[in-house]
Amino acid sequence: MNKKEFFAEFLRPVKNNVGAVAPSSKYLVKKMVDPIDFATVKCIVEFGPGTGNITLELLHRMPADATLIVFEINKEFCERLKEINDPRIKIISDSAENLESYLIKNNIARVDYIVSSLPFSLIPNPIVRNILKIANKVLSPKGAFIQYQYSLNAYAKLKNTFKKVDLNFTPINLPPAFIFTCTN
Ligand SMILES: C[S@@+](CC[C@H](N)C(=O)[O-])C[C@H]1O[C@@H](n2cnc3c(N)ncnc32)[C@H](O)[C@@H]1O
Repeated sequence: MNKKEFFAEFLRPVKNNVGAVAPSSKYLVKKMVDPIDFATVKCIVEFGPGTGNITLELLHRMPADATLIVFEINKEFCERLKEINDPRIKIISDSAENLESYLIKNNIARVDYIVSSLPFSLIPNPIVRNILKIANKVLSPKGAFIQYQYSLNAYAKLKNTFKKVDLNFTPINLPPAFIFTCTN
């Protein structure tokens, strides 16, 4: 899917929750994955992979025995993600809210990192709070929840959930983006 097709998904008349006019730039992708200690990683979860820009970089850096579980609600994007030929990726065509039940069903106790592009400004507040609560619950003590947004509006919610929130920024993205790295 090229930039034009991604933009077409954004314009779809149904409630799409894509929340972006273009896929993440390589500068944003780098800032999203740089906080991860790939040497020790066993399981990463990605929320809202879209067309897979961050996904591909995660797979590129992940060890051969690690797993990447991606939650995406957009069916077109899921079809596109299925073209990624890598046994380490599990594509879940479902909302991020259902992470915990997926982990229980699959006997996964903890995840090392959660990398999220969810458009919090388009998701009702109680659902955002629930997603953050679940993320915090399943994250390993040394893990991190890494989220990008186009504004600072999510800062308070993140600060209410995690002990520490580090802020980064990239102007080279459409639109420019803030990166939040949340740890405990
Ligand atoms: C801003 S786009 C990011 C796409 C891609 N990660 C990137 O950075 O280029 C947000 C993505 O989150 C997905 N999304 C929105 N709400 C979701 C939810 N509740 N669970 C899983 N994915 C969701 C959208 O379908 C969309 O693909």
